[in-house]
Amino acid sequence: MSSSEPHPNLSKRAKGAQSSVIRELLQHAKQPGVISLAGGIPDPDLFPVGEISHAAQQALAEDAGVLQYGLTNGELGTREAASVLMGFDVDPRRVLVTTGSQQGLDLVTKVLVDVGDTVVVGDPSYLGALQAFRSHGAALDPLPVDEAGVDVDVLETRLEAGGSVPKFVYVVANFQNPTGAVLSAPRRRQLIRLAERYGFLIVEDDPYGQLRYDGTAVEPIGLGSDQVVRMRSTSKVLAPGLRVGWTEGPAWLIDAMSVAKQSADLHTSTLSQAVVTRLLMRTDWFETHLATLVGQYRARRDALCSALEATFGTQAQYQRPEGGMFIWARFPGHDMTAQLPQALEGGVAYVPASAFMVSGDRDDWARLSFATQDPEDFLTAAERLAAALQLPGCSIA
Ligand SMILES: Cc1ncc(COP(=O)(O)O)c(C=O)c1O
Repeated sequence: MSSSEPHPNLSKRAKGAQSSVIRELLQHAKQPGVISLAGGIPDPDLFPVGEISHAAQQALAEDAGVLQYGLTNGELGTREAASVLMGFDVDPRRVLVTTGSQQGLDLVTKVLVDVGDTVVVGDPSYLGALQAFRSHGAALDPLPVDEAGVDVDVLETRLEAGGSVPKFVYVVANFQNPTGAVLSAPRRRQLIRLAERYGFLIVEDDPYGQLRYDGTAVEPIGLGSDQVVRMRSTSKVLAPGLRVGWTEGPAWLIDAMSVAKQSADLHTSTLSQAVVTRLLMRTDWFETHLATLVGQYRARRDALCSALEATFGTQAQYQRPEGGMFIWARFPGHDMTAQLPQALEGGVAYVPASAFMVSGDRDDWARLSFATQDPEDFLTAAERLAAALQLPGCSIA
């Protein structure tokens, strides 16, 4: 049996969830000498290591209970701390602390979706969400995504024509992964109107909202509405290894997710919760820390945009994202999936659009991350990419 074939002892569900070809290829992105624009991860040099260590030491010194089993819903203080990233005062009874927001995506699907139920997603969408939805047998119904986020008009037209009402619509309204798009205020209002009219939920996943480099924040979707389930995470603003996220939503849903969480992991690490709570409650420190992140990532976004501009001119099309970690770029006429092996050989990695697509064909698009690389490397990365695509006048630097 070849190693690419699933083992016969695996369940049907596990057989259907094999690793993608792109994921395998991107293993090469970790090789020395490759400049990776592929990873969707924060820069470890920006983790507040000293503060995390200090908070952990204090928590351990004060109460060994931070190493004890804890409440499935999360410690009360950590549930209350969700307000800091939600942007409004949360009712802790409506909050579940999750092991990263990824677990929230898995649990919400587990408790809402029966095999074959419809879940509406952007096309493209965050791969981890698509995997979670597929693993529970959801039928994905893709909506096009443009500069203003998912196209809610398309959803409205489908619903008016008698199309199936989804169990939920999944949106990353702020700096979507992978497009960097922000869902516009009119579309947010249109979406909540539809959710209330047709009775579906909106799952709003927002790990990047605090990383805004220009412009002003757009009003949250449906504040006060029970049709919205909100997910937040400390991964991009503190450190993903802490694995602390939150889901906020109607009590009936939080209760069901809590029961499902018991069988997944009993509860999220009590020590991580103690660290996160302490850090988020130090509001002055947290604001200063966020300002540092924003300054650093903004400079990297600008450096990558300048490198693309200098190297590709009009041969690359993209919108400068107002926040987040990604540039969604089009290289007209180039099949970015087919080109990936050459690019890796030439010493640069990116993620082709196909990794995030549900049905569409955006062959000549790719996601470029500016989060982890040194800004000084972006020009070399762009030149290597141009050489791999064999653009006239470009050679491997
Ligand atoms: C849109 C989106 N949602 C959720 C996650 C998962 O984050 P967490 O580390 O909180 O599980 C990510 C991670 O990259 C993401 O980009």
